[in-house]
Amino acid sequence: MATLTSAEVQVLDPYAFLAVLGKRVIHPGGRASTDRLLAVADVQHRERVLDIGCGVGTTAIRLARECGAEVVAADIAPLMRERAVANVAAARLKDSVQVQDADILALPYPVDSFDVVVAEAVTMFVSRPRAAAELVRVTRPGGRVLATEFYWRRPPTAEARQVFLGEVCPGLRFDSIEEWARIYREAGLIDVETSSGPFDMMTARGFLVDEGAHAITVMAKAMSRLAYLRKMAWLMPRMSRAVPYLGYVLVMAGKPEHAPQDSA
Ligand SMILES: C[S@@+](CC[C@H](N)C(=O)[O-])C[C@H]1O[C@@H](n2cnc3c(N)ncnc32)[C@H](O)[C@@H]1O
Repeated sequence: MATLTSAEVQVLDPYAFLAVLGKRVIHPGGRASTDRLLAVADVQHRERVLDIGCGVGTTAIRLARECGAEVVAADIAPLMRERAVANVAAARLKDSVQVQDADILALPYPVDSFDVVVAEAVTMFVSRPRAAAELVRVTRPGGRVLATEFYWRRPPTAEARQVFLGEVCPGLRFDSIEEWARIYREAGLIDVETSSGPFDMMTARGFLVDEGAHAITVMAKAMSRLAYLRKMAWLMPRMSRAVPYLGYVLVMAGKPEHAPQDSA
């Protein structure tokens, strides 16, 4: 994998930076929310699953390994796809997980392509209604859509909001659980349910739970270069100011068997 210059490291978004450090779980709900997502999705052997915004491929690998799914793991960022390809190869799952280039706002797949569509921490980076509409379009009638997003678990202070949305993740858009449910309902999904929890991924406890023994490798990588240490020194104090106010919401919903006009 190409080594980034120090200047390139400094401008990485936090998620790409964590991927460069080798972190495997890179979404607000951590491993716990993916466990719940997999339990609810109830993916069957050989079902076709799209994991859009797949990052380094961790959930795609779980879908193939634990459920026997045929997975398309797609992401807009070459850096993420490069790592996903390497992780899929290391997991010996190249026949079950195809890593592809795709934008959640214009998915390169025909209507009704997938049994299950997963988007963990992606929709909030873009126009949320447009992204939700695309997720629904490529899901087959009767299929399932599952998405993990940030939300404000309690009203943030002006400082926490500014630090997180103004400095750490500029451009991110999210608010309440009800708002997320409304976006997916208005995109045409039914039986919309949500489950939520704290944003533990960037706490010491969450880091250890999510990464297990691999946490040592991530820490060693973080300490291996001055550019990484500088980036950590910038990121971590800002994150810790926002963490108490942030949570994750998992949205779980279904695409109707028949389009609304069919039943008219
Ligand atoms: C917070 S990370 C989550 C990665 C992965 N889903 C996970 O949970 O580990 C967000 C991911 O969304 C990808 N992404 C951002 N905008 C996207 C878009 N318009 N289309 C597809 N992927 C996008 C980023 O490249 C990044 O890999």
